This record gives sequence, structure tokens and C-alpha cells, in this order.
Amino acid sequence: MNQFKMPLVAAMQKYCLQKKIPFHMPAHRQGQAIAAAMLQLQPEIFKYDLTEVPGLDDLHCPQTAIAQAQALAAVAFGSQSSYFLVNGTSCGLQALILTICRPDDILIVPRGVHRSVLTGLILSGARPVYLYPKLIAKFAIPAVVSPAELNSCLEQHPAARGVLMLHPTYYGVVGNLAAVAQVTHAKGLPLLVDEAHGGHFCFHRQLPPAALASGADAVVQSTHKTVGALTQAAMLHLNSDRLDKQRLEGCLRLVQSTSPSYLLMASLDAARSQMAVKGAALLAQSLQVAKKLRCELASLKGIEVLSNHHLADYDIMTLDETRLVINVQALGLTGYQVAALLATDYSIQVEMADFYNIVVLLGLNTPDKDGEALYQALACLVNSNNRLSSQQGGHLKELLQLPPAIVALTPRQAWMSTALIIPLEQAVGKISGDSVAVYPPGIPALCPGEIISMEIVAYLLEVRQRALPVQCSGDATLKTIRVLE
Ligand SMILES: Cc1ncc(COP(=O)(O)O)c(C=O)c1O
Repeated sequence: MNQFKMPLVAAMQKYCLQKKIPFHMPAHRQGQAIAAAMLQLQPEIFKYDLTEVPGLDDLHCPQTAIAQAQALAAVAFGSQSSYFLVNGTSCGLQALILTICRPDDILIVPRGVHRSVLTGLILSGARPVYLYPKLIAKFAIPAVVSPAELNSCLEQHPAARGVLMLHPTYYGVVGNLAAVAQVTHAKGLPLLVDEAHGGHFCFHRQLPPAALASGADAVVQSTHKTVGALTQAAMLHLNSDRLDKQRLEGCLRLVQSTSPSYLLMASLDAARSQMAVKGAALLAQSLQVAKKLRCELASLKGIEVLSNHHLADYDIMTLDETRLVINVQALGLTGYQVAALLATDYSIQVEMADFYNIVVLLGLNTPDKDGEALYQALACLVNSNNRLSSQQGGHLKELLQLPPAIVALTPRQAWMSTALIIPLEQAVGKISGDSVAVYPPGIPALCPGEIISMEIVAYLLEVRQRALPVQCSGDATLKTIRVLE
């Protein structure tokens, strides 16, 4: 091993030399829309990589500079109290779940929640009750949970301790969160919201209503994803007395580093100021590029962009217009193939691809020329694509309806149990130690503690045979699975 080598540094340098157009997170677009205050730190950036020296306050007991920065954030985002996070929305969601749930307490969550929620369930010992959103058929992506479905779930689970919702989904769709909040509050419960992808909502009128404005009690946002902070920097906003504030602060101390990066925290402070002062203009530019792209892409045969007219049957209220979900199925290419072609042949990096779609994120102040480059690239692709067998797409549709989860143990009980690795074929009737999710639809087929039914095994064998990409806590080839002893 050559110790002069730095493979990660080298990979990052190589990537940046390619000068790809970034249609992905973080929202500052590789520094192009970073807050001016961060640029001022830049020439001597390492001088500012500081710790809790006198005058710089302490994230875990803020009284001066950090307390003031958080107070300004609370005003800008509209909360009673805001907290800086240095481990992403992930740690904020974990702290919220730990705040309201003790072992065996019931938490109502949509099945498609982020895996940090599963971590929160494992840490707290809470028992999840899942709500299954419908799928938006054409795009094979999850819609949202309706207030009526939530209401009947709450009727069936009067002992629930709270509700955790996703707003927006990863694909930028937004339900009627105000109605969800009403239903939740009518039962005297707190509504926690994963708004990882919606931190920018409150800064432009054309964007969907923000979770805080819709009545959420506590909200976590990945400020790095859509608001221009550095990757990993996020915020938690508390806006109600339904949660115990002191317990929440204690839980945040449990899940955050005792050496929080001052550069990350500075980027939160600067991003908040940037958005409060000129966020509307930065977003207006990106919204304008998005609007033009939507019009232009509508003229390309074989491409369809998720738009308001697709939403009618799904309890969806609206979309985040800065995010384009582009269905490429009719081109006879998968989303993965289109994303790869855009990267290699057109120097464009999209945010994400799945079997049917690519997801394009317009960060802050996206210039017209980037939108034009994306349109031209897709137009070229449309005119010169290699067709796959359309049968493949047709068959895949049958794999979108997941067998329902049968929860035997809480995720924590499963996590703490001894597990064995066995061939998938032999797993029928056993309890899973793994989580397994397939894209599409990106909703877990299995979580730890759930019974592996015959239907689940048949589904996973089909997925394995088609070699679909799997997100799995164990063997992603699905030859084996961990089951509890
Ligand atoms: C819906 C959702 N929630 C939470 C998270 C976790 O956010 P973070 O990466 O800031 O920890 C993500 C990350 O991708 C996400 O997509």
C-alpha cells in the first residue's frame, strides 16, 4: 500500500476536473450559489475550522453567538426555536423520535420514510404502524398519505404517541399537510415532519406551503439539500408545546458530535441570512429555468415530466417546481441509462435515477445556460437512443405492489437479537433481521422484525432474477438474508 496515495482526494479532484453541470445537491451548486459570507472565509478557510474557543459558544449549550444565529434562523423559518444540526436531517429525526417515543410506543409513519427514521425506531424502541401511500402509476413513485387514511389509522391506534410525515417526498410531491396536522392535533398528538427536501419552501410564494406554516409541531430540514449550506448541515425547528423542549435538547445532545464543525455551523448561519435577504430572487431564477425546461421538454417525444395534471387521483396538492421528475420509459431506456449517458456524453450530473425516471434538482440561482444544456442533451438523446426491450418495463410494473408488512417485533428488538444468514429461498416464515427496498417503488419490502412471508420471498426472488438495484442492510444480491435466531 503506497501511503503517498490519497484515493478519495484524487477521486474528488478528478470529478471536479470533469466540470459537470450540477443538477443535484447541495443547492449551492458546487459553490456557484454559496452565500457571500462563506466566500469571504474561503481564502483562509482552515483558520476558521475552529472549536469551542472563547467567544464561539457551544452547540450543546448555546448562549451567545450560536444562540443568536439560531434565534435568527427561528425568525427566518417561522419557528419558536431552531437548532443547528451537524449530522444532517438524519440526526434531527432520530432526536425527535427519541423525544416522543419510549420502548413499545406506537409511532405512525408512512412506509416510504427515510432510513434515518428506522434508526430512530431502533434507538427508541418504538413500534411503527405503517401507512402505505398509493403509487403514481405512470412514474411508479410513491404519492402521499391522505388525511382520511391517517384519521382511520389513528382511530385504530388510539395509543399512538405521534405521527411522522414526509413533506415533500424525495420526488417533490406535497400532500395537504395542514389537513394532516388538523387530524393529528384532533387526537392531541404531535406532528413531526421530515422536510429534508423542503427547506426552501418558505422563501418563495410559488413553492408549496412549508411544514411549519401548515401546523407541524417539529420539522427537520436538510439545509444543505435545498438552501445552500454545506453538506451535512441541517436544522430542526420546534414550533409547539406538544413536545418536551428540554427532552428534545437532551436527545440532540445524544445524537450529535461533541466536536461540531464550525464551518458547517457557519454555513447554516450564512445560508439563513442569504435566503432571508435574497432567497426569493435566487429561487425565482431557478423557477424560471424550471418553467422553461418544462415547456421545452413537453415537445420531446418519449419524455414526460411529472406535472400537476398527473396528481389528481393521489391526494397530492402540488409539486416543488424546482425539481423535475422526468420519465424516460417511452424512450425505451431506463432512468439509469439516461443518467449515465447525460454524465458521460453531455457532462451533466443529475440528482438521481430510478428504473423509469431521472430526477433533476435546480439548486439556487440556476443559470439559463444550464437549463438550455439539459434540454439540448435530452433532445439529442431522444433523437439517437438505443432501445431496450419494452417488455422489461411492462413486467416490472407487476413488481410495484408490495406485499404488506407483518410486524412481529419492534425494529429495536430485531436489532438486538442474534441473526443468522441463510439462503433467501429458505426464509419463509422467519423474522427478518434486514431491511430491503427496491427502486421502484423505493418503499421497503422488509424491515427488521417483520415476518418474511411466502409472497415476500417470491417478490424478492423475482427482483433478484431481474437484477434490479436493491437497498439492503445485508446482501444486496439477495442470495442470502439475515433472519433472527
Ligand atoms: C426524505 C429524506 N429524509 C431524510 C434524509 C436524511 O437527510 P440527511 O442526508 O440530511 O441526513 C434524506 C436524505 O436523503 C431524505 O431523502
